[in-house]
Amino acid sequence: MSANLKGLRFFIKTFGCQMNENDSEHVAGLLVEAGASKALSAEESDIILVNTCAVRKKSEEKIYSFLGRLSPLKKDGGKVIGVLGCVAQIRREELFKKRPEIDFIVGPDHYHELASLLSRKREGKLLKTSWNRAWHEIGSAQTLRESRGSAYVPIMEGCNNFCAYCVVPFGRGREKCRPMDSVREEVLDLAANGYGEIQLLGQNVNSYRDPGTGEDFAGLLRVVSRIEGIEWIRFITSHPKDLSPAIARTMSDRPNICRHLHLPLQSGSTAVLARMNRGYTREEYLEKVGLLKGLMPDIALSTDIIVGFPGETDADFEETLDILKKIEFVNMFSFRYSPRPQTAAAGIEDDIPLEVKRKRLIVLQDAQKEIQLARNRALIGKTFKVLCLGESKKGGGRYSGRNEGFQVVNFSSPRNVRDRFVDVLITGCGPYSLHGETLNGKTAA
Ligand code: 5AD
Ligand code: SF4
Repeated sequence: MSANLKGLRFFIKTFGCQMNENDSEHVAGLLVEAGASKALSAEESDIILVNTCAVRKKSEEKIYSFLGRLSPLKKDGGKVIGVLGCVAQIRREELFKKRPEIDFIVGPDHYHELASLLSRKREGKLLKTSWNRAWHEIGSAQTLRESRGSAYVPIMEGCNNFCAYCVVPFGRGREKCRPMDSVREEVLDLAANGYGEIQLLGQNVNSYRDPGTGEDFAGLLRVVSRIEGIEWIRFITSHPKDLSPAIARTMSDRPNICRHLHLPLQSGSTAVLARMNRGYTREEYLEKVGLLKGLMPDIALSTDIIVGFPGETDADFEETLDILKKIEFVNMFSFRYSPRPQTAAAGIEDDIPLEVKRKRLIVLQDAQKEIQLARNRALIGKTFKVLCLGESKKGGGRYSGRNEGFQVVNFSSPRNVRDRFVDVLITGCGPYSLHGETLNGKTAA
């Protein structure tokens, strides 16, 4: 049966990472292909989809409170409410009990069926969370993208690493890779449609292998970077243990691969890293960073840190602080540890008191803030190529974009430069963003 959703309006609320944002663009594209149209709010829609994130306890709590707010809409008029994403996959039927307003639950391996599942007349609730080993191709034509300047391109999904704290292998399953030919085709299509930037996505992009030829991630990067028209190529997320010298060399050889790398450290202590099952030591991480900086002295590195993992001592935490000072990341995302279902660490006592976790997080964030402020101040007076991603919330000729190092740049421009590259002179900064103005409103590209 082909899907028919003519006349229906849908609204998608997306939580979580870029993979979820891209999945929502896929789902939107597939629903539009089946005849539905996108609504601007949950109130104006017939189908409400909540694409969820389970990575931390707080992420999951946000989902429940959002669903709670949808409950009156459900009572007022026959709307259908569905839950997608990692919470759907992990909690499954438990969710129906917790939130009776939910009509269906669909995990990441079943999005390609969503339109036809919604087309069928159904009694009762629907649950689709079984695992599927195959890569389901959803191409550019069925993707309703949010941006006309920067596009997500998934290359793999899932994770085989089982870090002790991490729920991702249970929300996304084992690694599966997209055929390189499909990746290439999508990037060619994006280039033909004027996209300036692509972001290759996967939970662990460095372990990519073409299912047909076995070609690795460095090989994929070489193929993609030969495509004319795409000026910036980024990829996320990299695992330090799998970041090879070949990947580093390819980054430094190719001018269209951004000199920006998100390389989650998690902890600066080898003892904690071992208990987290990260597969590298403090020294090995520093060595990889040395290799990257040796090849690309101007590379912008960002990272993720968890404080308060079970057993983390003051001395362990000091080692994390010390690494921040040594590496001087451009950006850092930091979190208090929270136990997650099904993970190895859920079986050990969460023994660091909340107060200690809070204090460590503040000390860490203050240290990083100082590093970023000093780095950013040194950039005042320089000019950066910036991809404008939209008007700033304040309006009034102010725009917001990112430079090659993925730093937020807010700037003024006499004309609308959304989705275009512009040269921006940096005139000021805060710890988390740069400010500036376009050079005579001229575009760089
Ligand atoms: N507790 C706290 N932070 C976590 N992260 C992943 N799992 C947990 C957890 N259980 C953080 C890691 C990861 C980022 C996406 O979220 O730093 O890199
Ligand atoms: Fe959250 Fe991980 Fe799922 Fe992304 S893959 S939505 S970060 S749990």
